[in-house]
Amino acid sequence: MISNATRNTLVATGLGALMRTAGLFTRFIPIPQPTLLVGPGSSARLGQAIAGFGHSKILIVTDSIIAKLGLLKGLTDALTAGGAEFVVFDEITPDAPIPLIEKGIAFYQANHCDAIVAFGGGSSMDASKAIAVAIANPKPLRQLAGYLKGLRTPIKIYAVPTTAGTGSEVTVAAVISDPDNHKKLVIVDPRMVPKMAALDPLLMTGLPPHITAATGIDALTHAIEAFVGHWTTDYSNGMALSAVGLIFENLRIAYRDGKNLEAREKMALASTYAGFAFTRANVGYVHAIAHQFGGLYHTPHGLANAIMLPLVLKFSSPAITDRLALLAVSARVGTPDEPTDLLAQKFLDAVDQLNADLGIPTTLEALQQADIPALAKAACHEAHTGYPVPRYMSQQECEDLIRLALPQTKPAKRRSKKSTKGAAAK
Ligand SMILES: NC(=O)c1ccc[n+]([C@@H]2O[C@H](COP(=O)([O-])OP(=O)(O)OC[C@H]3O[C@@H](n4cnc5c(N)ncnc54)[C@H](O)[C@@H]3O)[C@@H](O)[C@H]2O)c1
Ligand SMILES: [Fe+2]
Repeated sequence: MISNATRNTLVATGLGALMRTAGLFTRFIPIPQPTLLVGPGSSARLGQAIAGFGHSKILIVTDSIIAKLGLLKGLTDALTAGGAEFVVFDEITPDAPIPLIEKGIAFYQANHCDAIVAFGGGSSMDASKAIAVAIANPKPLRQLAGYLKGLRTPIKIYAVPTTAGTGSEVTVAAVISDPDNHKKLVIVDPRMVPKMAALDPLLMTGLPPHITAATGIDALTHAIEAFVGHWTTDYSNGMALSAVGLIFENLRIAYRDGKNLEAREKMALASTYAGFAFTRANVGYVHAIAHQFGGLYHTPHGLANAIMLPLVLKFSSPAITDRLALLAVSARVGTPDEPTDLLAQKFLDAVDQLNADLGIPTTLEALQQADIPALAKAACHEAHTGYPVPRYMSQQECEDLIRLALPQTKPAKRRSKKSTKGAAAK
């Protein structure tokens, strides 16, 4: 349960009501789930299925790298074979900014489309969700940020994730960026959840190692934050623990041997499971801080999470020792017969080691000392108005924590000897 100190602080700061709204929303409202097609070639099978749904014209939303790699071919061949018309908007850039989404909306309208296939990483999927909401609810995108700000049901979306990942193929959220204010905006609406999604590992074999690493740790962060927060359900716990097990088993393999289809498929599943977990149980300070790094410095989302995850977990550990112990067992770095404190420490060490093995830095190159108070303020506001964090952080504590990610204050004991070497070599 939330501690009295935390509750008093939230009430005193006037954030309690907002927090309750967010809690009621994510815990109790029905969240639809897409039909999932899984395995090599499933994006073509998704195309076959969509071709039979009678859409007049489908908009495929993706980015230019994915289009150039030819990853759309299975889907588009199947759409063509099934007689379905489609157009491709392949201009999405990371953390899709508002003007780009407006361009996508205009493209959709000019081509008289009536459905969207979101094809790519979180940026393409979230841009698709934002387009779908804005088409149905024509008002400025900034006004659509928040919980259920559009009255009308968004356009139908189908999804093909190409990273593993954000889990956006199953979540109620779309994260876009507002370049004028250097902020990330989150649109939340359960009706944006795609109707069907294909988890096709063949599309992921060319994902570069550093993106495999960062996006994989994003999925791990979703699972962990969902598991250690206060809005868990049996369902979210099961999904989170499965995801953690799969990630510890497969992420290093996918990172070193990108063509390993089994590891890629299991990472895709893990990302989706983690998505199921956090769309119900939400995230925490890692994401609250990572979103500020993304908004101000354009730090890739997974990388920002990966740098902050060990720091936030260590801060939270006194409040979540039991949960960390369970995570250690799921990650297979300990066994249930070991003492809880030892298991919890083993999990913290395992996260450090995983980051090191994946070449994740311990600090953020772009981070500026002078920005830290504002970053911490925005992160605390995001967390305290929406996330069921297990241990409350004051503004000062948040600043101190972010300061640990400054390059010059790199803490001496973040890595074991072996892992420090690994990270330096990358
Ligand atoms: N909606 C949600 O629930 C949710 C959850 C977490 C993160 N997000 C958001 O998702 C965005 C990040 O998404 P992401 O981490 O998937 O990255 P991304 O979509 O920005 O893609 C990162 C890079 O990887 C490339 N790429 C993607 N798939 C590839 C493939 N198969 N082969 C080669 N290159 C490929 C892209 O072209 C891009 O250059 C952020 O904006 C983040 O805030 C959303
Ligand atoms: Fe995330």
